[in-house]
Amino acid sequence: MSETALERKYLGSSETPNLQVSRQQGSILFDTTGKKYIDFIVGWCVGNFGWGNLEILGAAQRYNGPDYIYPEHSYAPWGELARLLASIAPGKLTKSFRATGGSEAVEFALQAAMLHTGRRKFLSLEGSYHGDTIGALSIGDSESRRKYKNLLPFCDKIDTPLDEKALGKIETRLKRRDVAAFIMEPISINLGVLIPDQTFMTELQRHCRRYRTLLVMDEVACGFGRTGRIFASEYFGIDPDIMCLGKAIAGGAAGIGATVMTEEVAESLEEEGSTWSTFGWHPRSVAAAIATIRYITRHKKKLLENVNRLSDYFRSRLSQMEFENAAPLNIRGLAISVDLGDEQYAERVANKCRRGGLLLSTQETRILLLPALNIDRKVAERGLDILEENI
Ligand SMILES: Cc1ncc(COP(=O)(O)O)c(C=O)c1O
Repeated sequence: MSETALERKYLGSSETPNLQVSRQQGSILFDTTGKKYIDFIVGWCVGNFGWGNLEILGAAQRYNGPDYIYPEHSYAPWGELARLLASIAPGKLTKSFRATGGSEAVEFALQAAMLHTGRRKFLSLEGSYHGDTIGALSIGDSESRRKYKNLLPFCDKIDTPLDEKALGKIETRLKRRDVAAFIMEPISINLGVLIPDQTFMTELQRHCRRYRTLLVMDEVACGFGRTGRIFASEYFGIDPDIMCLGKAIAGGAAGIGATVMTEEVAESLEEEGSTWSTFGWHPRSVAAAIATIRYITRHKKKLLENVNRLSDYFRSRLSQMEFENAAPLNIRGLAISVDLGDEQYAERVANKCRRGGLLLSTQETRILLLPALNIDRKVAERGLDILEENI
């Protein structure tokens, strides 16, 4: 049986695989036939620092500590990773809870908000995505409610655009003082790189404070430099109560997540919460995550300068491309979405690009470009040439 036939027979997945990976290096991915692709997906914001990054992967490979740490035991690198996260997190976010990935990080945020406020309702953005667990699906796109008949009740959604009207709805909901948390991605990769304006974020924070609803920023996808700041929340000068992290936290060298919160909120979760995570912060993942945060802090200036310089380049190239339809561009740093206005056209462009040696992601009518933050200008240029040849 061929390897793909084996996968089809024995591996469950709701995704249809479109290439078989053999290896990756920097911004390049090779399939098993030896074909080379420029990777503008990097695992959807996982490989932000380039595949095979020696400072990160090297640390993971050199790891020589205990096989596993039992959650009731203490382990010095857990404290070190939590300290490093507190050192880069905005505002008063100082205490981290151990998670295996983004969905679990979101679940801990929901628990913390319910326990801290004693409330049961959640408010989030319509069409958003926060993971695959039942809690995360409940606060995500309402479309899931059609398929799963018993998602969490009391989860309301705010429609985009994020304007005065949306703020009015938010205030009306929060005024009842029964909403535990408002959760969103500060720059929503899942909503086509949706960038709220400053007024929306300032007012949102004000309403949350006033009605004692916790403000949760899901930085699982947009965190760790993707938007040109370490965290997208920084753009708005907001002070979230909880931040959810995953994906690029270990640069792809390991799977790990974290829920970082203020001391007060953490106290409620510590007292009453259920946060035992058997594989949360596995020691090998912790070694990779510590190396990642050190890499980010060591190279912060250069890394973010590269993101912002290349962002200008992507903007200028993409806005000059002649797509079939007018193609609105949403871009902040290297979080880039082009709305091609037609789902089949977007799919066709991505498929043609893949055949031409460029990997893009699609999202309904949009194509998404999420290149590595340290991508070489020449590689970016070649990737954009392939896109231009296939539109
Ligand atoms: C914003 C956001 N939150 C949470 C998640 C869930 O993360 P994971 O797939 O690691 O569970 C994702 C995954 O794409 C995401 O984009």
